[in-house]
Amino acid sequence: MTDRNEFIVCADLEEISWKVTVKFVALANDTIKKRGVFRVALAGGRTPEAFYKLLANNEFRDRLDWTAVHFFWGDERCVPPEHEDSNYKMTLNSLIKHIRIPEENVHRIKGEEASEKAAAEYEEEIRHCFEPGEEAIPEFDLILLGMGADGHIASLFPGTHAIREDKKLVVAVYVEKLGATRITLTQPVIKNARNIIFLITGEDKSVTFRKVLSGEYMPNTFPAQIARSTKGNVLWFLDFFPGLVG
Ligand code: 6PG
Repeated sequence: MTDRNEFIVCADLEEISWKVTVKFVALANDTIKKRGVFRVALAGGRTPEAFYKLLANNEFRDRLDWTAVHFFWGDERCVPPEHEDSNYKMTLNSLIKHIRIPEENVHRIKGEEASEKAAAEYEEEIRHCFEPGEEAIPEFDLILLGMGADGHIASLFPGTHAIREDKKLVVAVYVEKLGATRITLTQPVIKNARNIIFLITGEDKSVTFRKVLSGEYMPNTFPAQIARSTKGNVLWFLDFFPGLVG
């Protein structure tokens, strides 16, 4: 377990959203001051929506120079951008429409395209934006993640080939339990982030959370355990007590 884990226990999603917004603005401004750009991979699912809406309101949105911010996604469903399941659509409506971020700074995963093609294009776009050098792994300033009750993060689901990918930055993966194909960042990219913020709510996830943090290291079973071997800081925003994590 890295000593760069910080657990922030909140009363509810509202408090989590508020504290993540404050942290996001501070981290973004600090990063922009140091390096002139802030590259963040956004999370999908339901939990982060309240945070996105808070970041978009006039209390916070004017505290950032959005021209220095680049949005990516940790994963996307293989659906068109206007589909109700699209992570992009959720983020567009809750955040992007309300801030002055340049269109070219929004690096959408093209879920409407054939999945392998969309994954390859997204990887190319990431490489172009980061220019890490041929073999290097891009270093996101921040990756936002949720966690499923099965311990999945992004679209790295237990037992899928995606969790074992250690060369590509992005893969397409058919998720049996969902009966759907997803496109996702891979382990190497997530592990290389300077900062990871988890937003996790619900007692149903607290049991999995403790196995993730303290159980035997089995990322193929609990993909969120990847966070135990990252190089960066990991902030866990929770609405339950973490218990003894070793
Ligand atoms: C997605 C997310 C996924 C999500 C978890 C938790 O595309 O759905 O990337 O990894 O973060 O499934 O989802 P909730 O926040 O809805 O519980």
